[in-house]
Amino acid sequence: MSEDIFKQVVSHAKEYGFVFPSSEIYDGLGAVYDYGQNGVELKNNLRQYWWKAMTQLHENIVGIDAAIFMHPKTWKASGHVDGFSDPMIDNKDSKKRYRADQLLEDKIARYEKDGKTQKAEQLQHELDQALLDSNLVQLKTLIEQHEIVCPISGTRNWTDVRQFNLMFSTEMGAMAEDADKIYLRPETAQGIFVNFLNVQKTGRMKIPFGIAQTGKAFRNEIIARQFIMRMREFEQMEMQFFVRPGTQKHWYEYWKEARLNWHKKLGLGEQNYRYHDHVKLAHYADAAVDIEFNFPFGFKELEGIHSRTDFDLRNHQELSGKKLQFFDNELDESGKPYGNYIPYVVETSVGLDRLFLAVLCASYKEEEVINEDKKDTRVVLTIPPVLAPYKVAVFPLTKKDGLPEVARNIINDLKIDYTCFYEEKDAIGKRYRRQDAIGTPFCITVDHESLENQTVTIRYRDSMKQERIAIADIKKILADEINWHKLLA
Ligand code: GAP
Repeated sequence: MSEDIFKQVVSHAKEYGFVFPSSEIYDGLGAVYDYGQNGVELKNNLRQYWWKAMTQLHENIVGIDAAIFMHPKTWKASGHVDGFSDPMIDNKDSKKRYRADQLLEDKIARYEKDGKTQKAEQLQHELDQALLDSNLVQLKTLIEQHEIVCPISGTRNWTDVRQFNLMFSTEMGAMAEDADKIYLRPETAQGIFVNFLNVQKTGRMKIPFGIAQTGKAFRNEIIARQFIMRMREFEQMEMQFFVRPGTQKHWYEYWKEARLNWHKKLGLGEQNYRYHDHVKLAHYADAAVDIEFNFPFGFKELEGIHSRTDFDLRNHQELSGKKLQFFDNELDESGKPYGNYIPYVVETSVGLDRLFLAVLCASYKEEEVINEDKKDTRVVLTIPPVLAPYKVAVFPLTKKDGLPEVARNIINDLKIDYTCFYEEKDAIGKRYRRQDAIGTPFCITVDHESLENQTVTIRYRDSMKQERIAIADIKKILADEINWHKLLA
């Protein structure tokens, strides 16, 4: 899929009520987006797919919903106050700020595009090394050596590279003098860590076990681009899996594979996924890998799997003075109980908005069709039926002769189980197109024959095939096609 198609996906998302720029009447807010009437349904369904796979299918994983605001010490312990920053560089002429590593990544992509493979590989190697060493001077040197110019001013008049913290802060408390500086969480994971013992004790959980959570996270991203790919307010779906020290490698491999399989079941094309091992590890990790997806603008991170050691629990224990340990009464090889320890953690972390974007991009199709003997095009979203915003649309062929009543009765019979759409305006062909564009997998048309023999036409989104079926059979046909088994079994 090309970048041109990506532009069409973005405008389609707006035109059909999936995603709108935030506060658009005021010209929007950078890298903040709202989900519309169809977007929220798709997003909820994707969240449900993750939640079911994590909690319902694993008896040793339970969920929580922690607050966004947390005690400020949380972010000291997690390392975010001191270490959650990006290397930034400003262009003195345009006054624009950029991520230094991103400027270099763009240059590498340009070299690759121009067939300068060796140059690209060399620069990639030098960039990885500079990041690994947190060598800001070397990043600036590379920018100068490769004659990178500011896309706005076109000049090479750069400042030094500096670290820039990505957390948003605000104040809690009504009086200025007793206000406490607090942060909007930059990841949901810390809400899980601080509740580790609450859940372990009240749920009588035994190691290994996991805690899952979905929710908003906030980062003051400097380079916010590619639509909902990199936002300042976004949603994460994270699971921390608490394991016995020494077993983390096993569980890391387990989750690496399990998470890729979960993505592949969405049917977006197995070739569209790949692993990317981290060279530069985050401050908390001893191993990390990204699952990348082939977005229209190239392979980019969709999910991260991190072996976080005992870094977070150990630091929370130290800063809070509260023991965050587990007593493991299972016996080791020498026959003694493993006893008390701080568990190690393997984390899976996927961005819900990125997942949404992957589904939208991969299911967006422009197809040539024949409409009343003429060539035509249709836009269709081939979203897996169980995830589609609307599962079924019901159309009376005309607005009279009792057809709307039959259509309404069908909807009344279906709406507790399925999201249904009713529409009686325009020609049937036009109504089909509108449903294709939002990914509705089934359309049911009620016509005059329906009054005589209680049958309707069902039309399938992907094949556009139409069949005459008994009204009494609708529920069974839908139940066969729309169910979680296809994704979760
Ligand atoms: N707790 C670990 C953690 O937060 P991360 O790699 O920084 O790790 C995990 O983020 C996932 O969250 C990413 O793989 C991505 O899908 C999503 N994500 C991160 N920053 C994002 C942003 N600015 N906009 C949208 N999604 C983002």
